Amino acid sequence: MSQNKPYILALDQGTTSSRAIIFDQKGQIISVAQKEFKQYFPNQGWVEHDPEEIWSSQSSVMIEALVNKGIRADQIAAIGITNQRETTIVWDRKTGKALYNAIVWQDRRTASYCNGLKEKGFADQIAEKTGLIIDAYFSATKIRWILENVEGARQKAEAGELAFGTVDSWLIWKLTAGQSHQTDITNASRTMIFNIHTQAWDKELLSLFEIPESMLPEVKSCSEIFTETAGDVLNTKIPIAGVAGDQQAALFGQLCTQPGMAKTTYGTGCFLVMNTGKEAVKSQNQLLTTVAWKIGDEINYALEGSVFIGGAAIQWLRDGIELFSHAKETEKLATSLDDNEGVYFVPALAGLGAPHWDQNARGAFFGITRGTTIAHMTRAALEAIAYQVYDVLKAMEKDSGKATQELRVDGGATANNFLMQFQADLLDCEIKRPKIIETTAIGAAFLAGLAVGFWKNQEELQKLWEADQDFEPKMEPSKREQLVKFWHKAVERSKNWVE
Ligand code: G3P
Repeated sequence: MSQNKPYILALDQGTTSSRAIIFDQKGQIISVAQKEFKQYFPNQGWVEHDPEEIWSSQSSVMIEALVNKGIRADQIAAIGITNQRETTIVWDRKTGKALYNAIVWQDRRTASYCNGLKEKGFADQIAEKTGLIIDAYFSATKIRWILENVEGARQKAEAGELAFGTVDSWLIWKLTAGQSHQTDITNASRTMIFNIHTQAWDKELLSLFEIPESMLPEVKSCSEIFTETAGDVLNTKIPIAGVAGDQQAALFGQLCTQPGMAKTTYGTGCFLVMNTGKEAVKSQNQLLTTVAWKIGDEINYALEGSVFIGGAAIQWLRDGIELFSHAKETEKLATSLDDNEGVYFVPALAGLGAPHWDQNARGAFFGITRGTTIAHMTRAALEAIAYQVYDVLKAMEKDSGKATQELRVDGGATANNFLMQFQADLLDCEIKRPKIIETTAIGAAFLAGLAVGFWKNQEELQKLWEADQDFEPKMEPSKREQLVKFWHKAVERSKNWVE
């Protein structure tokens, strides 16, 4: 590490907010800035972001993080980018203007097209190549939707005038003033047009989805110098040297570098990811096979279970239903009861992800009586987060043939001790919460830092991971069985609601 460049800047562009975090060589957080941005719901099941607002919020927090602590841009050794994955942006290469809003990973508008693909028997071919289950979640059908529905888009795409990118590509494009159109292999692996075995865009899938190859970004590894920022963005040129989708970055930030190690991030959704090493394990239990990271020539794969609504359930109760005004209140509300008293919430607000994969499921409360209060509903929502993680972990254990001994956790909701204890009880395994729960951002920082020699190697990084608190399971098995039984009863009833 050079004395003059003692920091790494991580940009963490999430579903509901843009964050910038500056880390020093000890992996300590030196400065954080965060900005929420607007969510658009133009139709039932549709979710969009304004790409310009993604960029303006990200660039403003980047500057704020520097200015707040008096750090100069030329003291930054490298930038790491991590991002909400799958979210799809298509823009005009010449003007740099997006043709349509970003279609967010949660958006369900292409669900019936996806069902059609399944009926036509494409599931095996797609799973074989991409490791994914056909679902509106991934980018391919969102790109196709833009090309089909935005006037003039298809002709422009055929003429090579359009660029597609997940949010990482969009940020790189903006940071380089349109000079670089790149992505990393983890983000590419979530598009449903990328072959995770050959590590290249897949021509057959591109023709199936009618996506011209000229739209696609160059695919890089996760830790190398991609490009450098344009001089006028931060008044100096900084290498962009680490990029990974947020769940993969969190797996790396948690230093789950050995096969079998797993983490769950409790963000908008909940994402359980297990490192499977050099082997791309094919799931028999409805999980995704995905790229964990590629560093140098070495690729690591992972199994992933994505739960669409995690912390977003609490956000919805706070903002949509206005049950409370701050997420912090939920722990007190939940622990004001000894028990859920039979109230369950299935947060299928965007269908159900792993392992149920029901695009037509919708949210529901069950077991409501006249005695039901805000406390019950809040507790049910927190418990629902844990039940969903339980279902995914059980599927993962079946695929890997091993019982999980330890699960590392991160994300905002891990601050909720009720949720963490309930999760440990339900899983009957130890939950480890690290000191730095900004594991997504630190993962991106680690990847960038490794590429520029800020950190020497992964062994040096291992020393930086420290546990904050461990949660040991305490629940009686019979109690656990009872809770899980009712949860599954509720899930089954919420399935296949939309016709
Ligand atoms: O796959 C979607 C995921 O990357 C979004 O993560 O943290 O924004 O909920 P988050």
